[in-house]
Amino acid sequence: MLIRSINLEKIYTNGDIDTHALNKINLEVNEGEFLAIIGQSGCGKSTLLHLLGLLDLPSKGELYFDEQDVMKLSSRKRAEIRKKNIGFVFQNFNLIDELSVIENVELPLVYQNVPPKESRKRAIEILEKLNVAHKLNFFPQQLSGGLQQRVAVARAVVARPRLLLADEPTGNLDSKNGQDVMEILTRLNEEGSTIIMATHSQEYAAYSNRTIYMLDGQIVTQNIK
Ligand SMILES: Nc1ncnc2c1ncn2[C@@H]1O[C@H](COP(=O)(O)OP(=O)(O)OP(=O)(O)O)[C@@H](O)[C@H]1O
Ligand SMILES: [Mg+2]
Repeated sequence: MLIRSINLEKIYTNGDIDTHALNKINLEVNEGEFLAIIGQSGCGKSTLLHLLGLLDLPSKGELYFDEQDVMKLSSRKRAEIRKKNIGFVFQNFNLIDELSVIENVELPLVYQNVPPKESRKRAIEILEKLNVAHKLNFFPQQLSGGLQQRVAVARAVVARPRLLLADEPTGNLDSKNGQDVMEILTRLNEEGSTIIMATHSQEYAAYSNRTIYMLDGQIVTQNIK
């Protein structure tokens, strides 16, 4: 079991307003699964992905990554697990503005001590597949939203992470580019990576093995293929 959550809750507090973003989430994800999460805007998809990606801590409940109790880990250990195991496609991309497209995509490989020549080759390969190879030396701010999204996908998958968390990775894409992204995710999953993807699209959710439906911070139902 890669991920297990028990009665997971997330409450955001701003001033005297509490937002119950996640309410008693019980979820188990096995290694090798491809999971889609569907639900209306504000139902808690991004919040859940952030918790599962060890980017944020729950307010209540239990969360286990690789059978390790996440609440008992130091922030350094959490960061280490994240770096070693997890790729993240952020809903707002989170590309590094000071780095070019190719440098953004090479970064996860640099962390893994892949030699520079090999990193460059792998980064170009994935950017070609995502139709961004003509923008290698551009900076994120010089790209359209759809191009930035594809760079974000390239950066998240280039090191073939054990777990890929993808937050609406096709939200800004036309159908051709959206399908290219889904094919890359499918290939990654076939090669052994576990994938959890938030989406608004039933069509793209159909690429997964299991779809979870969320409403108001809760999982209401799931569909297994
Ligand atoms: N940092 C924060 N501070 C306060 N409230 C927050 C914060 N982040 C999220 N929320 C609230 O938590 C709830 C869940 O938000 P979340 O971003 O997880 O939804 P979502 O399902 O990803 O929506 P979308 O489909 O629009 O991306 C919303 O009510 C949102 O306003
Ligand atoms: Mg979201």
